[in-house]
Amino acid sequence: MQEVIRIEGGHRLKGEMRVSGSKNATVALIPAAVLANGPVTITGVPKIADVENLSAILKLLHVNVTEKEDHLIIDPSNMKNVDLDDDVVTKLRASYYFMGALLGKYGYVRMKMPGGCYLGPRPIDLHIKGFEALGADVNYDRGCYTIKADHLHGAKIFLDIASVGATINIMMAAVYAEGKTIIENAAKEPEIIDVATLLNKMGANVRGAGTNVITVNGVQNLNGCFHEIIPDRIEAGTFVILAAAMGDDVKITNVIPKHIESLTSKLQEMGADLAIGIDSIEVKRAIRILKAADVTTKPYPGFPTDLQQPLTALMTQADGVSQVTDTIYKERFKHCLELQRMGADIEIGNGTALIKGPTRLYGDKVTATDLRCGACLVIAGLIADGVTEIHDVYHIDRGYDRIDEKLRAAGGVAERAVIA
Ligand code: EPU
Repeated sequence: MQEVIRIEGGHRLKGEMRVSGSKNATVALIPAAVLANGPVTITGVPKIADVENLSAILKLLHVNVTEKEDHLIIDPSNMKNVDLDDDVVTKLRASYYFMGALLGKYGYVRMKMPGGCYLGPRPIDLHIKGFEALGADVNYDRGCYTIKADHLHGAKIFLDIASVGATINIMMAAVYAEGKTIIENAAKEPEIIDVATLLNKMGANVRGAGTNVITVNGVQNLNGCFHEIIPDRIEAGTFVILAAAMGDDVKITNVIPKHIESLTSKLQEMGADLAIGIDSIEVKRAIRILKAADVTTKPYPGFPTDLQQPLTALMTQADGVSQVTDTIYKERFKHCLELQRMGADIEIGNGTALIKGPTRLYGDKVTATDLRCGACLVIAGLIADGVTEIHDVYHIDRGYDRIDEKLRAAGGVAERAVIA
């Protein structure tokens, strides 16, 4: 038995689509909360499977978790630093944030290798190098990492790649370390600012988040606090793209437009008509067919790798040859094989795809091979003739908050079904 999402294509979308709290911020904020010595309330928590899995990990650690609407109250007052060798750790990538959080708080962590979407190799060597620079010993045996330190001390750490995960993990490991930690070539994604904001509200001393040099001055105690998560820029971008494909005046709300400027300026270059407000983006019905465009993924503020897959679905409808190059994950092109099944004309190269358009898409049985591939197929399904049946929807539910409900509310025809 498995759940599928069926989308009947060809229906225009209209009205408002509200963006949920950021998945990639939430999955770091939840582990960060255990660094406090009192209850942390996080609001704007999206209803996604990654949050359920992180809550399950919190419960293994004897952390009290209370859910109320979109609030999560995380109380680590009675927590125990047990070994995280449960399979739930392998269900998502972000479980690796418990490495930094538990190392920072207890000087010891033993946990399984994290999982997550397969996008090609996803090493964590930079996280490990950061922990080692802070004074930790790292060992890997029988599928588990053991990371321990008698004494964590500040250090100067240069990241060879501006990694989001390594930046956040090192920040968390350094909050209680003695002295000053400087992370150079730090990643600048908005989620990093959100985590630094939470840590500072708890009493940490983190400066420079959002720039490429972050300084952490160690403190001795962190308290509980209240924090509202930033809107999800990738969900917002996904909605803007699907509205550009099939919308008749769709207003996307709870957006920080600055966070997706690389996308909105690309869509405007393609001919989309966008009205960008303070915290909303309206996508007007396209009068003319969109033009082809080239896009290369880069770390923030460049074009996000997480939006190249959704954008590819729209590019199948643009006039001319579009090119997508992914410099972050060279193998993140499985969605192109699924789009080809639906009639798209795509040539896949080494880290690139050439998309010829416009082509008619036809509904078919397709598979969400990873989260953003799923988003791409949802958009393709809205465009296509007939019904698209998307399999392995658990990938979509890991990161999109009830996407089928949000589509239906905007006039889309999407339903879930359980099949044998
Ligand atoms: N990298 C290394 N060594 C490391 C860490 C990263 O070589 O120790 C490489 C990666 O292989 C990749 C690049 O550095 O080529 C950037 O990876 P990064 O560490 O920034 O990615 P991440 O932290 O694992 C987060 C998001 C991803 C998003 C990337 C890039 C979370 C939980 N995940 O992953 O989100 O694609 O940043 O922006 O925040 C998604 O939401 O669909 C998703 C995959």
